[in-house]
Amino acid sequence: MKLLVFAGSTRQQSFNRRLARIAARMGRDAGAEVTLLELSDLDIPMYNADLEARGTPPDVIRLKEILDAHPAWIICSPEYNGSYTGLLKNTIDWASSPVAGHPVWTDVTRPFAGKVVGVLSASNGALGGLRSQSHLAPLLVNLGCWLAPRNYALARAASAFDAGDDLADEAQRQQVRAVVDQVLWAAQRLCA
Ligand SMILES: Cc1cc2nc3c(=O)[nH]c(=O)nc-3n(C[C@H](O)[C@H](O)[C@H](O)COP(=O)(O)O)c2cc1C
Repeated sequence: MKLLVFAGSTRQQSFNRRLARIAARMGRDAGAEVTLLELSDLDIPMYNADLEARGTPPDVIRLKEILDAHPAWIICSPEYNGSYTGLLKNTIDWASSPVAGHPVWTDVTRPFAGKVVGVLSASNGALGGLRSQSHLAPLLVNLGCWLAPRNYALARAASAFDAGDDLADEAQRQQVRAVVDQVLWAAQRLCA
């Protein structure tokens, strides 16, 4: 099973990027072929329909191809103002925008429909970014994703990681692993 993991942050010391690395490792341990995508590796501007009309940026096509190639995704969603980040919204907006006249990317839902998606979040707050998940979930379902019923919000993230870039608490590791395992379990059944 091909699993894509990415975080809605490009911050150097991002909690969500760290969580994504942990989820990716767990996916590999579970036997998945994992791609850990760093959104900073893609040169994607703010969405602008006039810009798009002059030609979809090459890295947007690359993004669509990466999303399309993975039946299972884990998204680590930071919380800004009780919602998910502008980076995540911009990434999803570009990925869902059809490319006029393109042989593959004229279908809005193509890189989304049928994907099995698990959502994690991390924040130093007490809710662990859970409210970002509650905004992200309907967007993903609207685009035709199968949302895994399990999720996990890592609270007090500033003190949750150990020096080895793992979660210090085994109970928290289990929560993350449960999401990864459920996504892989469901993707094997829904995307066979
Ligand atoms: C504009 C802004 C709004 C934020 N709003 C929230 C919030 O509503 N809830 C929360 O838990 N943290 C909030 N934070 C703190 C972020 O969760 C924190 O910066 C976190 O480290 C971002 O994720 P990252 O570490 O993956 O980059 C906010 C941060 C910014 C910059």
